Amino acid sequence: MKKLNVDIQSVFGFIDRDDLKKQESSLKVHHHNLISGTGAGNDFTGWVRLPSSTTPDLLRKIKEAALELKEKSEIVVVVGIGGSYLGARAVIEALQHQFAGLMPAFKRPGSLVLFAGNNISEDYHADLIDVLQKVDWSLIVISKSGTTTEPAIAFRVLKQHLIRKYSMSEARRRIIAITDKAKGALKNLADKEGYKTFIIPDDVGGRYSVLTPVGLLPVAVAGFDIEVMINGAAEMEATALGSHLPENNPAALYALTRNALYQKGRTVEIMVNYQPNLVFLTEWWKQLYGESEGKQLRGIFPAGVTFTADLHSMGQYIQEGLRIIFESVLSVEQSARKLAVPELDDDSDGLNYIAGKRLSEVNRMAELGTLLAHVDGEVPNIRINIPEINEFYLGGIMYFYEFACALSGYLLEVNPFDQPGVEAYKKNMFALLGKRGFEEDSAKLRKRLEGMV
Ligand code: PA5
Repeated sequence: MKKLNVDIQSVFGFIDRDDLKKQESSLKVHHHNLISGTGAGNDFTGWVRLPSSTTPDLLRKIKEAALELKEKSEIVVVVGIGGSYLGARAVIEALQHQFAGLMPAFKRPGSLVLFAGNNISEDYHADLIDVLQKVDWSLIVISKSGTTTEPAIAFRVLKQHLIRKYSMSEARRRIIAITDKAKGALKNLADKEGYKTFIIPDDVGGRYSVLTPVGLLPVAVAGFDIEVMINGAAEMEATALGSHLPENNPAALYALTRNALYQKGRTVEIMVNYQPNLVFLTEWWKQLYGESEGKQLRGIFPAGVTFTADLHSMGQYIQEGLRIIFESVLSVEQSARKLAVPELDDDSDGLNYIAGKRLSEVNRMAELGTLLAHVDGEVPNIRINIPEINEFYLGGIMYFYEFACALSGYLLEVNPFDQPGVEAYKKNMFALLGKRGFEEDSAKLRKRLEGMV
């Protein structure tokens, strides 16, 4: 079976082998600390052995719960934000028909999964309710802390709709909560109302939780094989834990290379994909790396583009703008569907020179042409080759990115498992909304806003 691999040929010229070699001894220490749980943030490294320790019993329970929801719901709304949202969306969007929302329900492998609580937009949630009025639906609410404002608001609004549409008791049967085992408002509510509940392990932080029920339940509800996904992740776990050596461990190679580039002033990493169904994998990756590394005035800024669309926008900057960027290209070797360019008798559009070629072949030439152009424009390129997009490789690549992210954070000498900076906006928002306990800040902030808005 083909494996994911990392190709760094196109970074040489910007860094050399010595730049990698000189970090290898610290990589060895960080690898050891990560897998033995002795590094910074070690109470949040439960995800490291999560794939291999996921029990058949847990998978069975998730599948049973998913089946129950699927059977009675055309739509399942997943309420959550950040790490309690992006992983599930990344997997579902990568796997599902790209026009799933327009397909008849019987053509889908599961329920149509929609998302809420990842913003506070009134229009978004009102539009969502318009749709929910017309269909049978259920709700999965996810929050590790159980106190995050955005999903709490969406849950309150949507729960009210669910109760009005069905009844209190039927609404309770249509809600599943995924949260902490003991604490938080959501846990209290779940106990009080008797919702079916899944636990997010204490030692797994939000952005590393896609392989817990946080990601697995929505993916199963959408009709995809979570067992295969876990198997793919477990294979990558064995590789990642097995060796710190970059030649044996693609996550170590990726972590080492991006840090060597960072040392040379490449402070922005652009994750590139050539498939629109991978946009949310990029979003998930941005959150994972941004929240893990961006602290203590350090860290690579994670950005994302989807080519070839963004070659007609961001392409100009990448080719000729500030030389502070490098790209990591997610290169999918085989597409799932087949479609070729047709031949025209009169060749009126001049495309007969590619007639008969599959679109994936044309896309591949765009990818290779761009690689050469960007390297010529002095943009180092890392290629992450993934054989195809399915449950197995998605499980593998998500574990790969998690492991590399933790190693990268350690190489950067930050704690990759905390996010102290996220609190600043929350404090201000609570104060401006008049939450009890924030009265003093409220007056000060209102004063500062005078004349600004
Ligand atoms: O990675 C993280 O820890 C965060 O992005 C959280 O997932 C996000 O803030 C949501 O938190 P919670 O699940 O507690 O609602």
